[in-house]
Amino acid sequence: MEQSFNPSKNMYFPSKEIIKKANVNDYESLYAKSVKDREGFWAAEARKLDWYKKWEKLLDDSQKPFYRWFTGGKFNIIHNALDRHQKNATRNKLAIIWEGEPGDVRTFSYHALNREVTRFSNVLKAMGARKGEVVTIYMPQIPELVVAMLACAKIGAPHSVVYGGFSVEALAERIEDARSRILLTADGGFRRGKPTQLKKIANEAMQRSATIEVCITVKRTGEECYMENDRDFWYHDLMGMPIANSGCCTEQTDAEDPLFILYTSGTTGKPKGLVHTHAGYAVYTSTTYNYVFDIKPEDRWWCAADPGWITGHSYIVYTPLINGATVMMYEGAPNHPYPNRWWQIIEKYGINILYTSPTAIRGLMRFGASWADRHNLSSLRLLGSVGEPINPEAWKWYYEVIGKSRCPIMDTWWQTETGGFMITPLPIMPLKPGSAAKPFFGNEVAIVDEQGVEVKQGEEGNLIIKNPWPGMARTILGDPHRFVEKYWEKYSKQGWYLAGDSARIDEDGYYWIIGRIDDVIKVSGYRLGSAEIESALVSHPAVSEAAAIGLPDELRGNIIHATVILRQNITASPALAEELKMHVEKEIGPIARPAFVEFAESLPKTRSGKIMRRVLKARALGQETGDLSTLEE
Ligand code: WTA
Repeated sequence: MEQSFNPSKNMYFPSKEIIKKANVNDYESLYAKSVKDREGFWAAEARKLDWYKKWEKLLDDSQKPFYRWFTGGKFNIIHNALDRHQKNATRNKLAIIWEGEPGDVRTFSYHALNREVTRFSNVLKAMGARKGEVVTIYMPQIPELVVAMLACAKIGAPHSVVYGGFSVEALAERIEDARSRILLTADGGFRRGKPTQLKKIANEAMQRSATIEVCITVKRTGEECYMENDRDFWYHDLMGMPIANSGCCTEQTDAEDPLFILYTSGTTGKPKGLVHTHAGYAVYTSTTYNYVFDIKPEDRWWCAADPGWITGHSYIVYTPLINGATVMMYEGAPNHPYPNRWWQIIEKYGINILYTSPTAIRGLMRFGASWADRHNLSSLRLLGSVGEPINPEAWKWYYEVIGKSRCPIMDTWWQTETGGFMITPLPIMPLKPGSAAKPFFGNEVAIVDEQGVEVKQGEEGNLIIKNPWPGMARTILGDPHRFVEKYWEKYSKQGWYLAGDSARIDEDGYYWIIGRIDDVIKVSGYRLGSAEIESALVSHPAVSEAAAIGLPDELRGNIIHATVILRQNITASPALAEELKMHVEKEIGPIARPAFVEFAESLPKTRSGKIMRRVLKARALGQETGDLSTLEE
C-alpha cells in the first residue's frame, strides 16, 4: 500500500503495513521517557545484550568530557555478534551474502563466519598481534575485510581500517599515528572492471612509515605483487597452517576497552584517530539499528557503503551481526557493467532494506528510471540515506522510482564521532524530503548561536548535543587535548558537544542539516579536510603554498577547488595543473583529486596568518566577499 502525502506540509505519511511492523509505535512518549531517565533507558537496552560480567556504573562522568560507560563490566562485541548466535538457530542463517564486481558470489552462515574469524584470530595471535595494540587494515570490500575486523575485536586488538580508496600518504600517516606493527591488506580489488593496486600502495606506505613488521595479504585479483621476505605473508598460506586450528577464545575485554580507531578528517592536516569502545558502541549502534530500521529476522539488509568508513563499521559489520541480520555486500561500482547493477542485486537477493548516500542516488538518477524499472524491487520495505543532506529532488526519485512510494526513507544524521544515528526519522514518522527529522532516543539536540543561546525557529545556527550517549567517541588517539578543543571547548560552560554542522529546526520540530561550519569538505559523502589536500599539494616540489575549498556540485555534493602559489622560477601551465591533480590523487586518493587547480600570486590571509577560505570561496562562486577587515594581504 502506498504511503499518503500531505502537499500543504510536503509530508509523507507511513502506511498501515509499515506501522504494524514497527519496533517503536510512539516516538514522543518513548523519547520523553528516554531523556527523563537516560540511564534507565540505556540500562534497559544494554540488558538486551550478553555480558560476561554486568557493569558496576552505567555512566561515569567524573572526568568530563571523557565520559565512560558501563564501567566495571566485561563485554566483547564479538561475543554478541558471533559467539552467542552459535547456540541457537541463527548459526544456520546467512550472515553475509557477498558479490564481487566480476559476479563471483560467496556466502557465510553465522557458523561459517565464526569459524573463519576464529581461525584468523589464531593466525593474528601467532603473528604477534596483542591485546590493545592497533592492527591496520587496508582492503577492498571483500569478506576477508570483515573477517579481519572481527578477528581483531575477538582478541582485543583495536583495528584501524583505512579506506581502500585512500593512497600512499594517507595510509602511511595512519599507520604511523597508530604505531601499527601489523598490516592486513590484499593484492587488490575490482573497480569498474579493473583491478586496483592495493599491495603496491601498501608497499610504498610501509617504506614511508617503518613501524610495520608483519604484512598479511589476501589474494583477490591475482595480479603480481612484490612480497618481502620475513615481512610479507599470504593470508591463504597462514589460514592453511596448523596455527589456524587452535580454538581461540574470545577475549573477555573490559566494557571500555578500545574496539577500533577510525581516522577522520578535521581542520588541521593530521587526521584524527577517534577511539570507540566495545560495550557503549555495541549498545548504542544496535539500539539505533533495531529502532530505526525495524530489523526482523527474515530481513535482508544492504548498507551500500564501504566498511572503511564509520557507516560500514557500524551498519555493515557490527550492528547487523549483533542483531542477527543477513548482510548484503557488493564489492564494486554501482554502474558496472551497467547502471542497473544495484537494482539487479536487490531483485536477485530479495533485499528488504537499502541504506545508501545521496551522492549514490544522484549518480544513479542520472541514468534515468528505466534501469530500475526493469527490475522487480517489490522486496524493498525501507530505504535509508546518510552522509550529507539529501536534496528533495533526489529524495523524491529514491522514494518514487526505487521505493515505489511504499518505502519510508530514513535520512540519518550522524558522524564518525557519534558512532551511530543521532538525528533520524523512525518508520512511523511522517517524513519531509531533506529533513533528518528528530533526535534519537536519549539525545537532547539544539541549534544555538555563538554564545550558546538557542536561535529562533527557522534560523540557522550551530548544532549541539547536550548529553553524553553510549556510542560517543571516547577520545582522539594520542591527542586528548585536541578532543577537548575540537568538540567540547566552544560550549564548555554548558558541557555541550559541538558537532561542526549548522542546521535549523522548523515549526514541527524537524531538523534540517545545512552543512559543515569548519574546513571539512564532503565529496561524494566522503569526509576530507582542506588541510589534508593542502599538505598533499605542498609536498609537490613546484608548490610553495596552497588553499583548498569545496564548491557545490550537483552530483558529488562538493568538488575541490585548489588555489596554488608556485615556488620561484616555476611557470604555471595547464600541464602543471594536471600534474598537481595527479599528485594529490597519488598521495591521498582519487576522491581528493581537485577538480580545479588555479594559480595565484598570494592567498587571502588574516593578520595571524590563517588562510581565509571563505574569501576564496566567495570569489570562486562570484559572490560578495563580505567583511575583509581582518584581511592582511
Ligand atoms: C554529514 C558519516 C546531512 C554531516 C556518518 C556530518 C549529514 C558529517 C548526514 C559526518 C545527513 C552525515 N544529513 N548531513 N543525514 N549524515 N552528514 O564522519 O556534515 O563521515 O557532520 O560520518 O556528514 O561525516 P562522517
